[in-house]
Formats: sequence, C-alpha cells, structure tokens
Amino acid sequence: MMEVLVLVPFIFIAATPVDIVSAAAPVTFVFGDSLTEVGNNNYLQYSLAKSNYPWYGVDYPGGQATGRFTNGRTIGDFVSAKLGIPSPPPYLSLSPNDDAILKGVNYASGGAGILNDTGLYFIQRMTFDDQIRNFNKTREAMKSKIGVEAATKLCNEAMFFIGIGSNDYVNNYLQPFLADGQQYTHEEFVELLISTLDRQLSRLHQLDARKMVIHGLGPLGCIPSQRVKSKQGQCLKRVNQWILEFNSNVKKLVGSLNTRLSNATILFADTYPAVFDLISNPTAYGKPFISAFCVSHVEPTE
Ligand SMILES: *[C@@H]1O[C@H](CO)[C@@H](O)[C@H](O)[C@H]1NC(C)=O
Ligand SMILES: *[C@@H]1O[C@H](CO)[C@@H](O)[C@H](O)[C@H]1NC(C)=O
Ligand SMILES: *[C@@H]1O[C@H](CO)[C@@H](O)[C@H](O)[C@H]1NC(C)=O
Repeated sequence: MMEVLVLVPFIFIAATPVDIVSAAAPVTFVFGDSLTEVGNNNYLQYSLAKSNYPWYGVDYPGGQATGRFTNGRTIGDFVSAKLGIPSPPPYLSLSPNDDAILKGVNYASGGAGILNDTGLYFIQRMTFDDQIRNFNKTREAMKSKIGVEAATKLCNEAMFFIGIGSNDYVNNYLQPFLADGQQYTHEEFVELLISTLDRQLSRLHQLDARKMVIHGLGPLGCIPSQRVKSKQGQCLKRVNQWILEFNSNVKKLVGSLNTRLSNATILFADTYPAVFDLISNPTAYGKPFISAFCVSHVEPTE
C-alpha cells in the first residue's frame, strides 16, 4: 500500500508566526507536501499523488475538491487566515511572469520529501529541491518585474512556511521494499535528512529568505498505514520515537542556522505534542473516536 498523505485535519498552530511578521500584509511562500499542497499536482499529468477526488474538499467552502489533500483547509490556509491574507495560489497555476507572484506562491506537492528518491513511485511530484528551484525562478521573475533591490526586500520580509519530512518516512524509510530503510540505521537516516535540510534551508537563505517557520512532524506511528502493522491497530511506538528524534534534530538545526545565517529568524513549530494529545484523548476535544484521523487516498501498489 502506498499512502499519499499524512493528513491531520486540524493542526494546532503551536508557534504563531505573527511575532516575526511585519505590519503590512505579509507575502508568504509555502513549501511542503500533501499537508500544505493547494493543487500543484493537478498540473502534473502523470502524478499518482493527486487529490481531485470527491471525498476531498467536502468541508471546504464550495464543498468541492480543490487540490487540497483534506476534507477542509490545509495548515497553510489556517496560517494565512490567521495573518489575514488569502492563501497563496499553486505555483503551477501561475504563468512565469504573473503579477500574482509578488503576493506569494505555494510550491507544495503531495508525495514530496527532503530526499529526491522519496515518493518516487508517485511518478511525478516536486521534491523540496524542485520547489526551491521553482522559488528561484519566481525570484528571478520578481527581479525583472520590480528590480533587484525591491525583490530582495520583498523576499527578506516574506514569510517562508516549510513542512517537509513526513514522506521521507511514510513513502521512503518505512517502506520495506525501498533501499533507504535497509541501507541506513535510523541514526544514519536522520543524519542524512538533517544534513540535506541544512543545505536546503541555507540555499533558501542565499535566495534572500530570512523569516522561516519550519513545521515539525506529527506522530506518524499513529497513521492508518502504520497502525495496520500492529496487532490491534495501536500507534507504533518505535515509529513515533523516530519522529521525536527527527523533530529534536530539526530543532537543533534551527538553532544552529539562526546563529550561522545572517539576519535569519527561523522558528521551529512543534505540532507533535498537540496532535498526539488529540489522538490519545479525543474526548477532551469533543470527538468520540479518532482512530481514522487521516483522510487518506490509498492505492494498491500492484
Ligand atoms: C536531487 O537531484 C538534484 C539533481 O540531480 C541534485 O542537484 C540534488 O542535490 C539532489 N538532492 C538531494 C536531496 O539528493
Ligand atoms: C538561482 O538561479 C540562478 C539563475 O538560473 C542561478 O545562477 C543560481 O545559481 C540559482 N541559485 C540557487 C541558490 O539555486
Ligand atoms: C543584515 O541586516 C543588516 C541591517 O538591516 C543589513 O545591513 C545587512 O546587509 C544584512 N545582511 C544580510 C546578509 O542580509
């Protein structure tokens, strides 16, 4: 089974980014996977990671599938709403010189990971490196539109939301038929993810990003494709332990980048505890049961 998404319909925005936002309506650039995608994959002809099916979007205004991997809004939509700005459009819906690029763009793509080979059986998806490359194209277009100085200022003041890594587990390390899970111990795998992420975030900084919010991963041991591996459908403790290790290493990386990269303000938003509590104590949130907390689109691999 391959599972496109890891969707937690309500994520608590642990660290509200408002404190690092300037007074004027902020421009936002969103990077990530199915948790933040707003429709890029619909433009990828051969992608198997699409969400234009009727069960998506039922709770979104209009009740139609929008390219979001969720019944309602994505975390990006929630953040945009909190900031009082519209959620930026998918990169692939815009022409390269569209004026809309000056107001923010969403590069996220379901199935994407930190590593290139993550989610490769979806045939087409934009990996984090692809997304950064696309942002570079946007930045070049902004420079020709408004000049280098104004484009640099726009990027320096913009908010960069990044939520990536879930697929490096769900659609890579945790798949017994892929190489990474066999080749690396978990410690080695985390090192690979963190050193790659270090390079990627530094590259965004080279491209004038200064304010970034990095979302940690949720308890992936509790999603349906993992629970089915346990006797009674419980969360897999070992997987959750790995995710906690990944999160704590990302947090350390963020601390180090804040000292290494000049003028950078990077926040780590740790959503794990709130989501785990929601799963463990659903009644406290008025939901009688929550074992099917993912809205997932599962397809047989053969
Ligand atoms: C992904 O592939 C591109 C192009 O081959 C390469 O430049 C990049 O370093 C690779 N990224 C990762 C994370 O391996
Ligand atoms: C961004 O694109 C320009 C123009 O294609 C290229 O010269 C530059 O190396 C790229 N920068 C990064 C950090 O990817
Ligand atoms: C950091 O901010 C200062 C003050 O705004 C500015 O002069 C300097 O060029 C910035 N450095 C970088 C690398 O952005």
